[in-house]
Amino acid sequence: MTKKVFNRILFGGDYNPNQWPKEVWQEDMRIFKNAKINSATINVFSWAKIQPSETDYYFDELDEVIEMLTEENYDIVLATSTAALPAWMFKKYPEVARTDFEGRHHKFGQRHNACPNSLVYQKYAEKLAGKLAERYGANPRVTCWHINNEYGGECYCDNCEKAFRVWVKNRYQTIEALNKAWNLEFWGHTIYEWDEIVLPNALGEGIDYDNTAFAGISIDYRRFNSDGLLNNFKMEREAIRRYDKATPITTNLMGTYKTLDYFKWAKEMDIVSWDSYPSYNTPWSYVALTHDLMRSLKKEPFMLMEQTPSQQNWQPYNSLKKPGQMRAQSYQTVAHGADTIQYFQLRRSVGACEKFHGAVIEHVGTEDTRVFRETAQLGTELAAFGDSLLGAKNESRVAILFDWENYWALEYTSGPNKDLKYVDQIHQYYRYFYDKNIAVDFVCSEEDLSAYSLVVAPVFYMVKEGVKESIEAFVQAGGTFVTGFMSGIVGESDNVHLGGYPGPLRQLAGVWVEEIDALAPEQTNSIQFIAGKEGTSRLLCDIIHPETAEVLANYTSNFYAQTPVVTKNSFGEGTVYYIGTELDADSLDYCLEQAVLSADVHAVLDEHTPLEVVLRQTDTEKFYFVMNFHEETQKLPAAFVGKSDQLTGQVLTEATQLSQYDTFVIKA
Ligand code: GLA
Ligand code: ZN
Repeated sequence: MTKKVFNRILFGGDYNPNQWPKEVWQEDMRIFKNAKINSATINVFSWAKIQPSETDYYFDELDEVIEMLTEENYDIVLATSTAALPAWMFKKYPEVARTDFEGRHHKFGQRHNACPNSLVYQKYAEKLAGKLAERYGANPRVTCWHINNEYGGECYCDNCEKAFRVWVKNRYQTIEALNKAWNLEFWGHTIYEWDEIVLPNALGEGIDYDNTAFAGISIDYRRFNSDGLLNNFKMEREAIRRYDKATPITTNLMGTYKTLDYFKWAKEMDIVSWDSYPSYNTPWSYVALTHDLMRSLKKEPFMLMEQTPSQQNWQPYNSLKKPGQMRAQSYQTVAHGADTIQYFQLRRSVGACEKFHGAVIEHVGTEDTRVFRETAQLGTELAAFGDSLLGAKNESRVAILFDWENYWALEYTSGPNKDLKYVDQIHQYYRYFYDKNIAVDFVCSEEDLSAYSLVVAPVFYMVKEGVKESIEAFVQAGGTFVTGFMSGIVGESDNVHLGGYPGPLRQLAGVWVEEIDALAPEQTNSIQFIAGKEGTSRLLCDIIHPETAEVLANYTSNFYAQTPVVTKNSFGEGTVYYIGTELDADSLDYCLEQAVLSADVHAVLDEHTPLEVVLRQTDTEKFYFVMNFHEETQKLPAAFVGKSDQLTGQVLTEATQLSQYDTFVIKA
């Protein structure tokens, strides 16, 4: 079923008229109209203006902004401003600041700087959210609430330490259970009282952000921190709901951002929104991955809350988007499930660190720029075709397992190979499906798998309680499951599943992994498939004993030459592939090809094409997005000959070609 949250595609973005004199506001309205901008995200960083002191609130300016946007019939995305605290709050209550990983307690400065467990911060954030909802919640032009901004980071202050002890006690109930879960007998770190627990930063068990002496403690700290920030979100949400029962509430997420368990967060949000900032060299498959991940959090359309119309300021090399690139990138976002296209920001800052960040209106102050013309073209196209697409679904029979706790645990391991990175591994598998135009969802460990016929779980290191049963049931019923090295190793507290790797997945995969070899970047092993194909192996190499599995490929070098590296096992009605190393792309494709055949999964289009083709569908209509992200011109797939492009009305023929960034949307 199509789920519509908005009545039109929101097209706009972060707008900060509070940083500009009033004369500019009217000029903004005039210029934005020419780009068909219909939405503005306001009040993201205005706490200091709205609450200039502990007792005073001042809404006059925001009233005027909202009045102006209401008159212009904008969809207002109203932020709560709690992501940057006013200076007076730090001066009077230094506890609102964070203590960082090194143990330094911060002063006023930066943003995203509140201690999530500070009662003072909580009190004033809640009050502000409530006041905003009371004042503006009934305005029908307020279309969406935007709580805070890009929640993230960590705090290691004394307040957080106390809150952590309470959280830990709640989770483990007894000191004995805690000592066991964290394996504190190791190095004689056994504790006897709850107040002996300290936060795992550089003053405790932490070494740096990704290294710790006790992963069990550090993973629990991450759970606690993600939950703590989520409680801040929920608190503001409840404050808004006291006055406004219906307007959707979101906060902007950041793709594969490590610190927050976004699957858990999404359950508390009415709609997922996120900020997409690929770099000049980010592969398009990776950009697509992040959109699919964000859509998958709720398996519903999402908001693109921010992208730049041209360049960023905060990356090492802030390249311009080439002509047509922003358009293509925007349609790719819509193709993967976005119902909004919003920019950061609508007018470029005059000062501070974002003055080199692109915007719809550049420093020249007029609409006579390339960036504006491209924005206006997109706005005009979206206004013409957009609404029929709202709420359309992306259907998929393939799921890739992406689990934040697994992400944390995998990257905390001391050994076997420091180059093992979770998202990079996920991307290697995702890229195959992207290249083949096979639609993919992401799932977390706890999710019901019955909607899928193929589930891929790369580096599925942490297998939590109950998960083995769910995967076994999926395969038993005929599903195809792909996993491999560094899987099934630990449970939820990072203690090893004893009895041979891959622990709970051993029977399922039909293999026992006796040892794991690590290869340095300059080292590779060679492999050969039984069918003849040769390939290479990198990073980590499982030394495998097949138990019930059939061998598909063996190593052909090193002391474990002639032992298996890829296997296939029958389990119930289904099939399990085990890939015991990081394969070269061609060999990985070869394995996944077989998994796709065994799962009877199909591409969006029968014809193979280097173009990206994505299908979104409503209850009655199908929209094919056809995009060329290659430098070389590509020919139109035969299936689309004779159709017309919804964006330009162009009738597509056998002679139609797509240059780089050309995009068609075809209705079927
Ligand atoms: C983030 C923030 C914005 C802005 C942009 C710049 O996404 O949410 O406030 O700083 O980055 O790219
Ligand atoms: Zn704190």
